[in-house]
Amino acid sequence: MKIQYSESLKVFHLNAGRMSYAFGLTDDNRMLHLYWGAELRGFESLKPLAEEVLVSCSDTAGVDSRKSLNFELPTREPWDYGDPVLWALHPDGERGLRLVYQSHRIEGDHMIVIARDACYPVEVEMHYRGWGDLPLLSRWVVVKNLGDAPLEMMALKSAAWHLPSGLDYRLTHLSGDWGCEYTRNQLMLTQSRIVLQNNRVTCSAAQQTPFFALDLDGASTETAGDVFFGLLHWSGDFAITIEQQHGKRVSVTGGINDFDSSYRLQPGESFETPWFTGGYSDRGFEHMSESLYDWQLDHLMPRGKATDKAHAVRPVIYNSWYPYLFDVREDNCLALIEKCAPLGVELFVIDDGWMPKRVNDRAGLGDWIPDKARFPHGMGVISRACHDRGMLFGLWVEPEMVNPDSDLYRAHPDWVIHSATRPMALQRNQLVLNLARDDVRDWAIAWLDDLIDSYQLDYLKWDMNRYVSENGWPDAPVEERQSLAIRYTRNLMTIWKHLNEKHPDVLFENCASGGGRSDFGMVPYADRINRSDNADPVDLMVIHEGFSMLFVPKTAGGAGNIAPAAHHIHNRKTPLPFRVHWGMTGSMSIGINLLTASEEDMETLRQAVLDFKRLRSDLQDSYVYRVASATKHPYAVFEYVRRDRRAFTAFAFGHGLRCWDLKLPRFRMHGLIPEGVYECEDGRRMTGDALMNIGIPLPMKGDYASVMSVWRMVDERK
Ligand code: DGJ
Repeated sequence: MKIQYSESLKVFHLNAGRMSYAFGLTDDNRMLHLYWGAELRGFESLKPLAEEVLVSCSDTAGVDSRKSLNFELPTREPWDYGDPVLWALHPDGERGLRLVYQSHRIEGDHMIVIARDACYPVEVEMHYRGWGDLPLLSRWVVVKNLGDAPLEMMALKSAAWHLPSGLDYRLTHLSGDWGCEYTRNQLMLTQSRIVLQNNRVTCSAAQQTPFFALDLDGASTETAGDVFFGLLHWSGDFAITIEQQHGKRVSVTGGINDFDSSYRLQPGESFETPWFTGGYSDRGFEHMSESLYDWQLDHLMPRGKATDKAHAVRPVIYNSWYPYLFDVREDNCLALIEKCAPLGVELFVIDDGWMPKRVNDRAGLGDWIPDKARFPHGMGVISRACHDRGMLFGLWVEPEMVNPDSDLYRAHPDWVIHSATRPMALQRNQLVLNLARDDVRDWAIAWLDDLIDSYQLDYLKWDMNRYVSENGWPDAPVEERQSLAIRYTRNLMTIWKHLNEKHPDVLFENCASGGGRSDFGMVPYADRINRSDNADPVDLMVIHEGFSMLFVPKTAGGAGNIAPAAHHIHNRKTPLPFRVHWGMTGSMSIGINLLTASEEDMETLRQAVLDFKRLRSDLQDSYVYRVASATKHPYAVFEYVRRDRRAFTAFAFGHGLRCWDLKLPRFRMHGLIPEGVYECEDGRRMTGDALMNIGIPLPMKGDYASVMSVWRMVDERK
């Protein structure tokens, strides 16, 4: 990103990948937003806007026009009644902030602007960080209490994004619940305030993904139109407020949810808010996804020491959950390992159920040692059996939770989030440990480190299966209790950061009852996401569409994306080849019972693993284009295009096709090199322009129909 400051105009211009962003200083050093959108050539282009907007804020002569001022960091300055990013209660009872620019420094892709309150000892660092040529800008603030008394921060959001005014926008957001995450919703904005949020403390994404997109006139498609979008990097209670004020002034603020949350900043203390990254696409939703994919793969995802994990392929997984639930034992695990090795499975994961008394969900959480009764020779035997056969070994954990029937709870009943007076609600028979407490955080770090080292774990699946109901913390001073949700998430992310630093080559799975934490706060720490507990292959036609808007295919996991039939969500019996194709689209994991599988199914799986290994280096880092949507048709088509655009694979999934669907269109591919010649594995050859304009047939009929069509470039026409 190029970051420049014009002394004469008092304007900052940040520019990358066909996106420009600008703000400036008034005569009295207030910071006003100027521009966000398509690339501008420089200060010459910004000059007329700067001259019009950047006059003194105390100038009331033109009061009507100045009603539409957009403050760069809104704190309810006069006459701004939009959602404030920061809201403070000062020791004398006065509220709010009036920020005045002091200085700035530019360090490559990163700019820090220092502002201070005009009357109170509060400093705010406003951070702007670019990512090479990507049209993305991450923003956050650091609030410092320079006074000698505590400062109560009632709202601690990260940034505001102002869109070009006077225009119509359509909001796209992803909502849902357990089993149906990432449902795409679209609505035109009216003069109103819409809040996308979660307030369950332990969950950041199942009901609402911390993401927004606003497209111009509601006219953008996958491939065309202006799309402004943003993502929050916070795996906890968040709020993104989209507000249209009179005159079609549209702004988006986002950050930590202020519901039941505030933070007392002690004298000298600073608070760094989560990042809020905004981006701009001039080529529809696809280019938004491309930028997000590039960003994850090349900047955000965990890198590892021995392997570049971000770019390495994910191992083929076998996971015990769907076939065995809590019934994991030394004998069935060893027998499964024997079956996995010849199939080509590369990682064996024991899911829930390996701890003492964990034969159902009523006991065991909190006591993180292997159950002696079911693992009489310890977990080392299983770990060695995997390693001896050249496979990796992984375990499931749920560190934030405890069953009342556990030694941990009996020893530390005060460690759970609870109210001093109200009864505790149980969900899945479990309670939430108060991770806001630093002693609980340190306990979790200690046993997790020990577990990884003791069993030479190559993989850790971190799960989370309940929300907070009584947000109490009776042991904390009254004035700190409202920081519970903030401290909880901060400590959660600290543990994930620690695990990554301490065990850089271990693979980590971000699972939260499926996709309860599919957010960009977790992206730098997790190599895989449990996309959803719903692995029903028909539902996946919709779930994968929303997921693929944001997340790269190699992270698309689950306990078994080659799921058993019937899968528990619908008890729908689906043919194995249909499920196998779903395994190909992400991080393949087999979740069916290999000890009872037929010879035919074993052979299908063996072939699937072979095919996947042949193709996965192309598939896992590809851009995913949503060529046809199951929300509109009885089928879905996803095109996986390698980032150098020299290979692509089309996946088509159909279910419930009727006679009048039989004349399916030729599906037009996206994102290829027009003059390139591509060859299909069946020998057909087509040019990129023909593939994109004429398309290819992907024949499907009836129910559970799927096609995989693999193409590679063979020649380039000059
Ligand atoms: C919920 C997860 O999403 C599943 O994959 C599985 O790990 C269970 N929890 C285990 O309790």
